Amino acid sequence: MPVSTKPSFWWRHAVIYQIYPRSFADANGDGIGDLPGIATHLPYLVKLGVDAIWLSPCFRSPQIDAGYDVSDYRDIDPIFGTRADFEHLISEAHGAGLRVIADLVPNHTSDQHPWFQQALLSPPGSPERARYIFRDGKGKHGELPPNNWKSVFGGIAWTKEPERAGSASRQWYLHLFDSRQPDLNWDNPEVRAEFEDILRFWLDRGVDGFRIDVAHGLIKGKGLPDFQVRATMVGDHDDKTPSDAPMWDREGIHDIYRSWRSILNTYPDERMLVAEAWVKPQERLARYVRSDEMHQAFNFDYLLTLWNAQAYRDVIDTSIQAMNAVGAPATWVMSNHDTVRHVTCLGLSIPGTRPPGIGENDEQPDEELGLRRARAAIFMTLGLPGSVTLYQGEELGLPEHTTMEARFRQDPAFFRTEGKEIGRDGCRIPFPWKADAPALGFNTTGKTWLPQPKSYKRYAVDQEEKNSDSTLALYRQLLKIRKERGLGDGALQWHESVENVLDFENGSVRVVINFGTEEVPLPQGTIMASSLDLDQTKILPGNSAVWLENVD
Ligand code: NOJ
Repeated sequence: MPVSTKPSFWWRHAVIYQIYPRSFADANGDGIGDLPGIATHLPYLVKLGVDAIWLSPCFRSPQIDAGYDVSDYRDIDPIFGTRADFEHLISEAHGAGLRVIADLVPNHTSDQHPWFQQALLSPPGSPERARYIFRDGKGKHGELPPNNWKSVFGGIAWTKEPERAGSASRQWYLHLFDSRQPDLNWDNPEVRAEFEDILRFWLDRGVDGFRIDVAHGLIKGKGLPDFQVRATMVGDHDDKTPSDAPMWDREGIHDIYRSWRSILNTYPDERMLVAEAWVKPQERLARYVRSDEMHQAFNFDYLLTLWNAQAYRDVIDTSIQAMNAVGAPATWVMSNHDTVRHVTCLGLSIPGTRPPGIGENDEQPDEELGLRRARAAIFMTLGLPGSVTLYQGEELGLPEHTTMEARFRQDPAFFRTEGKEIGRDGCRIPFPWKADAPALGFNTTGKTWLPQPKSYKRYAVDQEEKNSDSTLALYRQLLKIRKERGLGDGALQWHESVENVLDFENGSVRVVINFGTEEVPLPQGTIMASSLDLDQTKILPGNSAVWLENVD
């Protein structure tokens, strides 16, 4: 990427495309996607019109939590390729005008990380243990966990260490996620120094930014006090991550991000940090993106909003206000690798509701209705000022796999909740490139690490490319207009509208979305794009949207 002389603030308006490397494209045919596979498909992303790619973790890992359990932060996992493949991908992406955002997992390592292995071999009180959160158990013989915290994935958040030669006592270690993902101790300067070094390592190799995993979890409340409820990541986080939870959103966290920002600031080309922080309300979230901290934070309030005009209006206003107050861009996201795909949620009886996975015995979505609404929703999302993150496959209208048999499941949340939570596998299915090829063109061998549902054939890229009314064609069209009209850098102004309708302008584009089922009159203006083929230009049917030339 040519060294810029003046800042473009690209991260303020960027459309970022999340790639889930396991499921994007598999060049070596082993059933798991890889970096060479991604490199082959960069032209597809350029044609789509995105500005950056974010790669879910591809660092060395036992893959207990699909790479969110890292055993070597400076190496690429062999299932994805080599470090040379990663560097090649960065250089190809830059050559194609795309930035590359890596995924950094600082809250926990894998239990196979050499630090954790050393900790297990070292006595209580040793510097090796001080990198993690080891504690003696409660009870007469230390048989009870040190506190009552629950794991996000279900069960308790503590595991008793295995027996150690020469020692009668066994301590417990904390893991907010799976037992094979021990939490690091961020009060330890050695941990901080290590991650600063890891940041530099990848910045030196041309990475344009980092998505920070569990950005709100690194600092734990002093004394690790008991806390009554289980903290989940998704869905009902309203009740479950109140701001007094001792494991989330502690004040001390912000110093870490200030030090990271100062490192990024020493590099050319505007490197960026984006927070994955399930924090409420938006004013708390905004603290992660103050001018000396991160650049962006995912807007999960937006992702979790039900299909309702007023609810969207509220979340849009609150988000823009909170981010404006600290000078950060608002961001918008509807799907990711942790949540049921939005097209599917929009086809449920409470449209937009996010169950923690959907299985064969659960309510099945109305796929057609969900798609119709999702096509309308993207008019709103791409019409808003700020930065947008898309999740791979949403541009095809790809639904969740909602009928996967239990024997295929891999998500640790499924196992830790004994199947009560179906988990996230259904949104992580290998990508359909070609309708009539093995594994729908994901590779040439037909092997896939998760099964693809039959319906994926009709969403394959080669089918949608032939059809000018496809969701892919729609995304391409909207992304092009968004860029040409500078909507990402624009400003929103509401127009009053009838019930169930949102109507706003952003510069030269007017966005109208009908969330209801009844048709409504359209304001004046030439239609630039519509989510449905409209037979007449004065009426907007239910569950549909348009962009109009703004005539004001
Ligand atoms: C959030 C990630 O997005 C998710 O996939 C992962 O399981 C947890 N953090 C733990 O790292």
